[in-house]
Amino acid sequence: MSTISILVLNGPNLSRLGKREPEVYGRRTLGDINRELVESFPEVTFEFFQTEDEGAMLEKLFHCEDKGGFRGVVLNAGALTHYSIALRDAISAVTVPVVEVHLSNIYAREEFRRTSVISEVCQGVISGFGANSYHLGVRAILGLNHSTQP
Ligand code: DQA
Repeated sequence: MSTISILVLNGPNLSRLGKREPEVYGRRTLGDINRELVESFPEVTFEFFQTEDEGAMLEKLFHCEDKGGFRGVVLNAGALTHYSIALRDAISAVTVPVVEVHLSNIYAREEFRRTSVISEVCQGVISGFGANSYHLGVRAILGLNHSTQP
């Protein structure tokens, strides 16, 4: 049985992938992306959670922390990335490593997207590789060396 657990946490509007601005976010649905992760990383047990709600996102993060046993969290916080101090504080409040991912390159879009209030408290950021950003996020978590702090 697998001992590596990773939570893939998606925020507002990511439920609309496939239909939502496909020229920006691609044609894969969130279900497609999740399925491909399971296929690509058979050694990992994934938990997937998407919510339109900021509070539910915080609660899921705390649940993951309290349950224990998670190697890390791949987080696409959607627009919460740009303004949610509550999410930033929640990430600071947990010890489980969080990797920030985005399908689009948030630095090559509108000015307001160039600010992430969560990057500083995440292990790192992956942005601009479409669905592959999630795969790279999982790889980043698998490669984290817990004995070497940055
Ligand atoms: C996003 C980028 C955000 O600016 C946007 O609000 C999203 C998706 C991305 O994956 O590219 O909802 O996080």
